[in-house]
Amino acid sequence: MSRLRKRVAVLISGRGSNLQALIDAAVGEGFPAEIALVVSDRPDAQGLQRAERAGVASRVLVPKELGGRAAFEQALEQALREADIDLICLAGFMRILGADFVGRWQGRLINIHPSLLPAFPGLDTHQRALEAGVKLHGCSVHFVDSGVDRGPIIGQAAVPVLPDDEPDSLAARVLTAEHSLYPRCLELICLSKIQLLEGGVKSTSSAPAESAILANPDRL
Ligand code: GAR
Repeated sequence: MSRLRKRVAVLISGRGSNLQALIDAAVGEGFPAEIALVVSDRPDAQGLQRAERAGVASRVLVPKELGGRAAFEQALEQALREADIDLICLAGFMRILGADFVGRWQGRLINIHPSLLPAFPGLDTHQRALEAGVKLHGCSVHFVDSGVDRGPIIGQAAVPVLPDDEPDSLAARVLTAEHSLYPRCLELICLSKIQLLEGGVKSTSSAPAESAILANPDRL
């Protein structure tokens, strides 16, 4: 990853609001990444329209149509190679990637998840946070390893759980935080201010806000 602006692929399955946040950040002056490719595993993903509006190349790769996960990952790898991709962001990509794929992209494959990991991996995170009675909830950006919603944490943003919250109101508050956190984490990785080293995530920045692992993105 030696070029100045990293070429990023964003993998989506649906709405694509985090994709939009990354697209919007990347058009900003001096942002160290460009969104070069969007890949969706669903032809009806709303995020595909966002890619088109932004003039970002997109591919639809449907595992079932391709003959299963192995064929999907092969096609994905080829699309990433053709687009000369440096780094992959999973943004609401609701599919588990195989260990071989994850291993090849280790340190260059990141995900956003709507909880303060390791709490609440998987689905229905907001409902489960309310049921658990937590007072703080949030989102995490992490390097992907072979587990589900697991891997070294890059950044987290916490939001309060309010007394009248329903899953939807809590989800909306978390989503706003996601839209700040994800571009900031991507930026720090592309600037090599955060790296995946043996033993976890390391910040190479001396700026306190940038070296914070638990971060409120509004203050980054
Ligand atoms: C986001 O909340 C993201 O964190 C979550 O899916 C949503 C996608 O929204 N991802 C996961 O749950 C991954 N385990 P978006 O399509 O509007 O970005």
